[in-house]
Amino acid sequence: MAKILDGNKREAISEAASLTKRGGVVAFPTETVYGLGADAFNPPAVAKVFKLKNRPRFDPLIVHISDPSQVESLCLPPGKEARALMEHFWPGPLTLVLPKRPEVPDIVTSGLKSVAVRLPSHPVARALIQEAQCPIAAPSANPFGYLSPTTAQHVEAQLGDRIDIILDGGPCQVGVESTIVAFGEGEVLVLRPGGIPVEEIERVVGKVKIATAAPKQPQSPGQLPRHYSPRTTLKILTNGETGYYSAEEGTGLKAGLLAFRGPVEGNFAMVRVLSPSGDLEEAAANLFTALHQLDSAGLDIILAEAVPEQGIGRAIMDRLRRASK
Ligand code: TXA
Ligand code: MG
Repeated sequence: MAKILDGNKREAISEAASLTKRGGVVAFPTETVYGLGADAFNPPAVAKVFKLKNRPRFDPLIVHISDPSQVESLCLPPGKEARALMEHFWPGPLTLVLPKRPEVPDIVTSGLKSVAVRLPSHPVARALIQEAQCPIAAPSANPFGYLSPTTAQHVEAQLGDRIDIILDGGPCQVGVESTIVAFGEGEVLVLRPGGIPVEEIERVVGKVKIATAAPKQPQSPGQLPRHYSPRTTLKILTNGETGYYSAEEGTGLKAGLLAFRGPVEGNFAMVRVLSPSGDLEEAAANLFTALHQLDSAGLDIILAEAVPEQGIGRAIMDRLRRASK
C-alpha cells in the first residue's frame, strides 16, 4: 500500500524526490488535480506511469517544471504568443504545447514532435520538481478514463495498491485540469478547456479557436468523447427533468443529483451541491469530489445540472459531457 506523506514536510519532499531520481513513480498534488509523476528524461520510469494507470501509449504526458528557465531544456524557443501566455498565467493551470527538443524522450510525447509543458503553482509540486532536479512527466493520478483525483484519498482509493508514495497537499484549489493551448499557423488553439478560462486567454492573445469536442483524430486524448467518467451512468439534466427522476415520481431508479447551486427540489438518494452561492470557481473545486462521492453511493444514475458555460464553467461542462457519454 502507498505511504501517504505530508507534502508540507521537508523529509517527505526529500523521500519523494529521491524515489523520483531513482526512476520511481510518485503521486503529488497540483492546484488542478493530483498527478502521477516520473523523471521526464528517464524512459523506463515514464513507462511505469503508463502501465500503472493503464494509459494507452498514444496519449502523451504533460511535463511539469518548477522554473520558467527549464522550458529551454524541453522546447525550441517559444513564439511571442506562447511567451505572453507564460508571463500571464505561469505558475498556474495552463499547459502549452510547443515544438520539442530531440532530447525529450518519445515515450513522453507519444512520438509527437511537440511537448506539453506546465509550471504548476502548487508549492508541494514545485518543491518536488526542484528537489528531484528534473522535469516531471505526469498525467492525472487516476486509472485511464476515470474521474480525476483532487485529494490524496482519491489517489489512495484508485491506485493506492500500485504506488509507493502519495504526497498529500490537501484538496486541490482549482479542481479541474489545466487549460491546454497549442499554436497553429497564425492561430491559438485551445485543445482542452480548463483552469484558466478561455476569456482570460483571449484577453492576452486575442481570439482563439476552440477545438471541437470530438475531432476524428483527437490531438489531445482529453478530447476523447468518453473521459473523466464515473462508473455510474451520468445524465445532464435539461430544464424540468428533475422531478421526473426524483424518487417521489417513482421511476424505480435510485437517482443521485449533482446540483449547481440549489435549492434542490425532489427526493434523491444523494445530493451534492457544487456551490450554494452559484460561484463557478467554487463549483469547479468541488466537482470531482462530488462525483467521487456520488459514484461510490451505489446509485443507478447520477443526474447533473448544467452550469453556465462561461469562465471555468466551460471546463465543468466539458467534463460533465464527457462523463455522460
Ligand atoms: O492539470 C493538469 O493538466 C493535470 C495535472 C496533473 O498537471 N494533468 C493532466 O494530465 O490533466 P492528463 O495526462 O490527464 O492530461 C493531459 C492531456 C492529455 O489529454 C494529452 O493528450 C494532452 O494533455 N497532451 C499531452 N501532450 C500533448 C501534445 N504534445 N500535444 C497535444 N496534447 C497533448
Ligand atoms: Mg487525466
